[in-house]
Formats: sequence, structure tokens, C-alpha cells
Amino acid sequence: VHALNKKETVQALIGTKNYEPKNSASSFAPVNIALVKYWGKRNSELNLPVTSSLSLSLPLGTHTSLKAHSKDLLFLNGKQVDLQTSFAKKLFDFVDLFRDKKTTLFIETKNDIPTGAGLASSASGFAALTLALNDFFSLQLSPKELSILARLGSGSASRSLFSGFVQWHKGVRDDGLDSYAEPLDARWDDLSIGLWIISDKTKPIDSRQAMQNTVESSPLYKAWPDTVSHDLSVMKEAIKTHNFSLLGRTAEQNALTMHATMLAAYPSIVYFLPESIEAMQKIWQLRKDGLEVYFTMDAGPNIKLLFLEKDRKTLESQLPNLHTHSNSIP
Ligand code: PMV
Repeated sequence: VHALNKKETVQALIGTKNYEPKNSASSFAPVNIALVKYWGKRNSELNLPVTSSLSLSLPLGTHTSLKAHSKDLLFLNGKQVDLQTSFAKKLFDFVDLFRDKKTTLFIETKNDIPTGAGLASSASGFAALTLALNDFFSLQLSPKELSILARLGSGSASRSLFSGFVQWHKGVRDDGLDSYAEPLDARWDDLSIGLWIISDKTKPIDSRQAMQNTVESSPLYKAWPDTVSHDLSVMKEAIKTHNFSLLGRTAEQNALTMHATMLAAYPSIVYFLPESIEAMQKIWQLRKDGLEVYFTMDAGPNIKLLFLEKDRKTLESQLPNLHTHSNSIP
């Protein structure tokens, strides 16, 4: 098996399918928060990860609709987007993998949460776009195939095809056809997530570049694959037995270990703002005072809290800026 490029991957999956454009299609995909993180690629063209990862989806996400139109147009959150922006280019480059030259589209996409705030809107965005394209071109792809295709847009998008707990299997093949996500057979209704938005400014360095710099220059990255395989098995056990202390501790420690690999990169990658550190200290203090709450953080300054439904009211009164959500299992 040899490496494919993106176009060849799409062709490998849709080449033999019926390619019949409809007039319109629409879709929704959830935001996901990684409890065991994806950090580092073994193939950066195909977004093939060094390790597997595990996430929990929120009930919030991205809504995308496609309509056949005389020329390409893009609207994000109700506003028209210039097709020369990097956002539009990334999105249409992805669409180009699926269409021929004569198919032009009016694309409308809306996020339930702020774009570019380290809240993984690119994951739900590419997952929703993949679902909409699958519907628009009547491709009838399987969940596994959809996950592989969404991964080509953004690695974590492979997990945003599903609700609840989701594991992305890293795969070993050079063509990436075994690197896809699938939902775990588990539910945990009173497990909740809080979003503590510290800043909605765009991040200083995007996750693609940050991952590459970490893999290339951080002396701590060597330990990351072993950390992840340990944390994945502990996390799955915590989910199976509804052991919240174990889930929270494992998620928090995994996130901080990921950030430690970045701090040790050269030049150092620091996503924390002073307010992020204050937020962590507040959470540690709440825990000392007997309230079981844990946090995780991604490639941005914002904090995601993990807590049980019974503590929602107390937490909301302690942290007025918190947006709380149940998880996405219907
Ligand atoms: O899929 P990307 O390139 O946006 O990378 C996401 C990386 C993290 O959010 C930091 C971790 C993860 O597993 O989602």
C-alpha cells in the first residue's frame, strides 16, 4: 500500500458510486471535545495521526446547506464571505475534491459557537460539509467512509460525524483507509460540559503548524504516544464504569501533558493566556473545596469543564461566564 493524495483518497472511496447532484442538501455535525487528545501527524497531507484519540460530542455544532447555483457563493453565520479569504479557499478546496468544474454551489454554514476560538468549529465544519456533500451528490457513503473523508479537511473532523463518545483509530496504512472514527457503545447522561470562553480572538499559531513544530523540536514528544495509549485504556475503563473522578483526572492530565510537549518545543508554543491559568487555579481550588470539576484545553486559551449534572447549579453560581451543556447522546 502506498500513500495517496487527497484527490486519490476521495476517488478510492467514491469512484464507483453514483454521482448524481441534487438541487440542495443540508446537514448538521456536532462539536467534539477530545478527552484524550490528537497531537501530531504521521502524514500531514492526509491528516494521519501519530496516535488514536477519544472525544465527547456536544449538542452544539455546525449547520451547512448546499444549493445548486450559477456561481460559487459562501455565507458564514449569515454574512457573505469573500472567496479569496483563507477560510473560503480551504472550504472550496475541500468541495473541489468532490465535484466536477461545472457544479457551482451556494454554501451557507452556521456555527452554534464562535468560529476560531479554539472550540473546534473546524471539526464540526468539515464534518457537516462532508455530510452535506454526501447528500448533495447522493453518494450514500458509510459512516466509516464519511469519517475518512472528513479527516482530509481537519483531523478532528473525523470524530465530529458522531454523537456521544467517539474513538478515532489512528490506523497503520500509508493510504489512511484504516484511519477513521467510530462511536463507542456507551452513554453517560449526567456527564456535562462547560465552556469557559477566555478570549474569542484567533489563535497565535494554528494547530497544523503547532503540531508540526512540536513533533520536530520538542524533546518531550517522544513520550506522547505512550501517554496516549495509557490514557486511552484508562479513559475507556472510566467510561465503562462511570468513574467520573478517573475520567476527569485522565482528561485533565492528558491535556496538560499535550501542552507540556508544546511548551518544550522551540520556539515554544503557549496557548494559555494569564486568564487561562487563573481559570485553572480556580478549578483546582473548587476541587479542593469538594466540588468535583475538571478541565481540558485545546489549541486555544479557552477552558472546557467536565462535571456532573448534579453540580451544574453550584458551578454556574461560582463561575458566571460559564456556558454549560449536556453531552450529545439523545
Ligand atoms: O483537527 P485539528 O487540526 O484542528 O487539531 C485538533 C487538535 C486538538 O484540538 C488540540 C486536539 C483534539 O484531539 O481535538
